[in-house]
Amino acid sequence: MKTVAFFDSGIGGLSVLEEASQKIDARFIFYADRDNVPYGEKPKEDILKYVEEAVDFLAERGAEAVVLACNTATSVAAKILRQKYDFPIIGMEPAAKRALDIDSSRRVLVTATPVTVAGEKMKKLIGRVDKEHLVDLLALPSLVKFAEKGEFNGINVETYLKEKLAPYNLNDYSALVLGCTHFNYFKDTLRNLLPKTMSLIDGNEGTIKELARRLNLDEKPGDKEIEYYYSKRKVTDKEELMRLENCMKRLEKMRCIK
Ligand code: DGL
Repeated sequence: MKTVAFFDSGIGGLSVLEEASQKIDARFIFYADRDNVPYGEKPKEDILKYVEEAVDFLAERGAEAVVLACNTATSVAAKILRQKYDFPIIGMEPAAKRALDIDSSRRVLVTATPVTVAGEKMKKLIGRVDKEHLVDLLALPSLVKFAEKGEFNGINVETYLKEKLAPYNLNDYSALVLGCTHFNYFKDTLRNLLPKTMSLIDGNEGTIKELARRLNLDEKPGDKEIEYYYSKRKVTDKEELMRLENCMKRLEKMRCIK
């Protein structure tokens, strides 16, 4: 059986792992860089160093592919990692193309971390897919902090999102793109705040399809054997494992919200 590692700054990457565990049969390692989360407002040099250290560690643990289940890490480090390792590095980028393929006449709101929004990779993506200038970019860094605190809904989350969405006439938009894996935890609140005419689009399904294609994996669910690490430390504490399991349960519910 193949060993696939999922890397994120924190618990956002669990949304990609959750999708994988439903769709493919592999041995999974999940690595959250708990000591350094959040990445989204840090200097690129620091992020690159953290990601390289983590991928070195995962390579030593026998990873046959690493999924950067983090748009921010992909934006900063994917290209460099691909030059360094001979196993597949599967990255993620905000699904702006998918949103425009579904509806090419209305506007699209791409949300992500500040580093992803301001990155070179984003500029290239927009230049390639947004010929009609329909895409707006919105950074939502506090959602990462809420997620890491386990505050997935409630008044603080709602007030923050309402404030951030207020400048947009949402009736002009066909979709909100979740360009940060942490944002998947907030799909229920977002669904309540957005007009019905807008859909929520993330890149998880496409990422797992790409992983299956690259590693020649059958698209069928397996035993869901998962080993968890927090910044190179294996997670064995029962309470922590329960926290991760509860996150996965929430994400399973969120996956169905479109
Ligand atoms: N989950 C990450 C992403 O997809 C980054 C969150 C952060 O650490 O700021 O961009």
